[in-house]
Amino acid sequence: MKKIVISNKVIYLGTNDRKKRLFENNWPLPNGVAYNSYLINDEKSALIDTLEFGSKDDYLDEIRKYLDGRQLDYLVVNHMEPDHASMIGILLKFYPKLTILSNIKAFKMLEAYYGVGTENFQEVKDGEEISLGYHKLSFILTPWVHWPETMMTYDKTDKILFSCDAFGSFGTLDGGIFDDEINFSFFEDEMRRYYSNIVGKYSNMVQKAFAKLQGTEIKMICPSHGPVWRENPSKAIELYDRWSRHQSEDGVVIAFASMYGNTEKMADYVARLIAERGVKNIRVYDVSKTNASFIISEIWKYKSIILGSCAYNTGMHPMMEHLCHELSVVSPKDKNYALFGSYSWTGGGLKTLTAFAEKMSWNKVSEPVELMGSPNPEKMEGFITMAKNII
Ligand code: FEO
Repeated sequence: MKKIVISNKVIYLGTNDRKKRLFENNWPLPNGVAYNSYLINDEKSALIDTLEFGSKDDYLDEIRKYLDGRQLDYLVVNHMEPDHASMIGILLKFYPKLTILSNIKAFKMLEAYYGVGTENFQEVKDGEEISLGYHKLSFILTPWVHWPETMMTYDKTDKILFSCDAFGSFGTLDGGIFDDEINFSFFEDEMRRYYSNIVGKYSNMVQKAFAKLQGTEIKMICPSHGPVWRENPSKAIELYDRWSRHQSEDGVVIAFASMYGNTEKMADYVARLIAERGVKNIRVYDVSKTNASFIISEIWKYKSIILGSCAYNTGMHPMMEHLCHELSVVSPKDKNYALFGSYSWTGGGLKTLTAFAEKMSWNKVSEPVELMGSPNPEKMEGFITMAKNII
């Protein structure tokens, strides 16, 4: 691995994971994911977060190479989720005198996960500072971005924010590590998918974190996933601010579950009606084909949603039920919505979709359309009003 210098005495020590299929064993990783760790090789040395265990077989060799026989003095744990923390046990074997800097909530998890005792732990409080020599670190507690113990570390000297999950992204760093070395159009989708899938549920806490960071000069953002923002960190901040305020673009996501094709025809029909009225951002997804992860990301992006399901054992289709479950967890807000469904002998799809949508407190813009059997223009007349209203 070539040495990648972030700033004075700060070295990038991340890695790409192209093997893992599902992040948290739930969210697909077709483009992989990067885990970022940073070594500050100052008078006192500090590692900022670690990596997923086994993701980089020469991680310890690299740390030892850069330290050149010196001790690793500190490990800063911004977040205890194992994609950043699961190398702690092995680090402690190599550096038994290592001091782990984190907050008290993290300590309970460190104890539970890795048996870390008080001899290796030093609590840091909100706003507390330590000096490594040239670099002066301060700690900003940002609970629930993404777990309750989450915090960020700010280097007051070079104005670097080590933000952990915040401003992170799915997708590997394929040669380009910094925002000025990559084509961001790829990462914008992967970053929003990461935000909506992992962090979005805690959007109000992201806004609280922003309030805390108000007035902090940030020249660089070093997250624990995805690109390092050295040229334009304000772009990452702007995107996170927009997503956490639930601000969306004009456009319609139509997600359907169809067993025999009739509900799909309904989806295509209403999509066409909307397109004829001039809307260009229309995305139609079959929930049995496209993983909920990607549909949630598109729903986060666009203002309006139309959901349709066939009846299945007197409820909605199980794949639509999965999408609805994930939506109820991550909870995108300020959406316009409409619903449709089909059935063979009795209903259930639309009925259960309606119960779900009412709980989401979205803005219902039109009456639903439901039909028995195969569609025809008469049965689908209600879509004309739906298309007008959703626009
Ligand atoms: Fe990247 Fe919440 O872990």
